[in-house]
Amino acid sequence: MYVWHDATMRSPQSAVSVFTLDLCLIWILFTIPITTTKAAGPERRPSEGCPLGHFPCGNMSICLPQVLHCNGQNDCPNGADEDNCGDNSGWADLFDQIYKRVYPQELSTECQVEQYPDRCQCLNNEIHCVHAGLRSIPQVSANVTFLSLRSNEIRMLPDKAFIKYIKLQRLFLQDNCIGTVSIHAFSGLYKLQKLSLSQNCISLLSPGVFSDLRKLKWLILDDNPITTITVNTFTGLSSLFYLSMVNTSLEQLPASRLCTHMPLLSWLDFEGNRIKSLGLSTLLACEHLTVLSLRANLIKSLPENTFQSLHMMGDLDLSSNLIKELPISIFKDLPSLQILNLSQNPLDHIHPDQFNHLIQLQSLGLEGVEIPNIQTRMFRPMNNLSYIYFKKFQYCSYTPHVRKCKPNSDGLSSFEDLLANVVLRVSVWVMAFITCFGNLFVIGMRTVLRAENNLHALCIKVLCCEYQRCRLPDGCLSVFCGGL
Ligand SMILES: *[C@@H]1O[C@H](CO)[C@@H](O)[C@H](O)[C@H]1NC(C)=O
Ligand SMILES: *[C@@H]1O[C@H](CO)[C@@H](O)[C@H](O)[C@H]1NC(C)=O
Ligand SMILES: *[C@@H]1O[C@H](CO)[C@@H](O)[C@H](O)[C@H]1NC(C)=O
Ligand SMILES: *[C@@H]1O[C@H](CO)[C@@H](O)[C@H](O)[C@H]1NC(C)=O
Ligand SMILES: *[C@@H]1O[C@H](CO)[C@@H](O)[C@H](O)[C@H]1NC(C)=O
Repeated sequence: MYVWHDATMRSPQSAVSVFTLDLCLIWILFTIPITTTKAAGPERRPSEGCPLGHFPCGNMSICLPQVLHCNGQNDCPNGADEDNCGDNSGWADLFDQIYKRVYPQELSTECQVEQYPDRCQCLNNEIHCVHAGLRSIPQVSANVTFLSLRSNEIRMLPDKAFIKYIKLQRLFLQDNCIGTVSIHAFSGLYKLQKLSLSQNCISLLSPGVFSDLRKLKWLILDDNPITTITVNTFTGLSSLFYLSMVNTSLEQLPASRLCTHMPLLSWLDFEGNRIKSLGLSTLLACEHLTVLSLRANLIKSLPENTFQSLHMMGDLDLSSNLIKELPISIFKDLPSLQILNLSQNPLDHIHPDQFNHLIQLQSLGLEGVEIPNIQTRMFRPMNNLSYIYFKKFQYCSYTPHVRKCKPNSDGLSSFEDLLANVVLRVSVWVMAFITCFGNLFVIGMRTVLRAENNLHALCIKVLCCEYQRCRLPDGCLSVFCGGL
């Protein structure tokens, strides 16, 4: 090995390759100052009084680099860098307020319902029959306002099952393996506001089954093998605000105007279904829609106008689908969008103008998305963006105005240019020239002095080792250097 090595160094090719290496080094050095100016030059714009790529410590005048935000350690003296780490961008907070207003807690504990099964508990006007082994709907007094029959063995809901409970506001039937829901099961529940049927065995919901539920605000159908719904499944739900159909095996959505009977629908959750596509007018009548989750479906493509008329949309989750390409102006009708998650989609590129209309966006998820054509221009229109999630931390250098960029660096590498430091940059240049001239000197000397001499041999061996270190895996390095 070593002999071969020394021999090659005597050939003219070896001199050429050493020299090529030098040229390489020089070329790398020339590119460094160029990229440095590009990243630091015209883009640099103070955000909240801090240089780009830095964030302020709350109301203090201290600025810290982006990567220290939410890294689990207090870096700001006032700990402000660990605040707001949960990405509760705007809308989620707002929703919490609405949610609390809809269901104020009544805290009196005295029972005011006379008739109810022994195995149940009574609190005020509420009856809780949880894990009570019930096989049918129990008889209770008519003035009950909340009936929970969670985790029992009820298998069907017959006609007029709840007709006498005209004051009922909340009805919980989850975890029963209810298979049959009669079309008149919920007749007469004119005051009902919240209905949960999750974790059951419902495969069919007849059109009109909810038609008396005019006051219903929440409908939760998670974890049922429903597979199909039509526009008329939701007839009568004129007050519905929240519809959750997570893990319901849906294969497709009605082709047009899903919200025809639910004009006030604001929150729609279709996570974990098998939806393959969205029709051009499926969401057309959903004018109040604010949150839409289509996470973990099988959507391959979305038509250009899928989201037209959704002027109130604040949070859109399209993550974990099979979307390869997005129409350029798909987001153009979503001026209020604050949260967008496109993570875990096999997108192969993103158009530079893709996000141009999302001026209110605060959080953007692009985890697991390769963006070969990434550029600063893509993200610049989103002035209010505070959170961004990428596949690689290197992408963070293209979004210096965003306060929180994930993933954080690996701790070893950094996109911040180390070579911005003048001393370091000058040293690298000096080293490069010494190496270059050193190599030229040796090559020159070897052609002039033909005679073999120990000092030369050593010189060349050191150089070779240096050269091979750049080209070979670590294992080879030890073989070569061991030879010295
Ligand atoms: C920063 O805000 C905290 C409370 O949020 C306040 O107590 C403190 O005085 C403020 N500091 C400055 C420098 O304004
Ligand atoms: C509920 O009805 C029973 C009679 O069925 C009555 O005694 C009780 O006062 C009622 N409670 C309320 C809160 O109306
Ligand atoms: C949906 O199904 C997944 C996987 O089976 C499960 O992890 C998740 O908890 C389910 N979600 C709901 C809301 O039931
Ligand atoms: C975006 O979606 C991915 C995959 O579904 C999820 O892991 C991630 O938490 C989401 N990001 C945000 C900010 O919600
Ligand atoms: C950015 O957010 C602030 C407050 O959160 C809001 O007043 C402002 O209008 C937003 N800017 C844009 C361009 O939407």
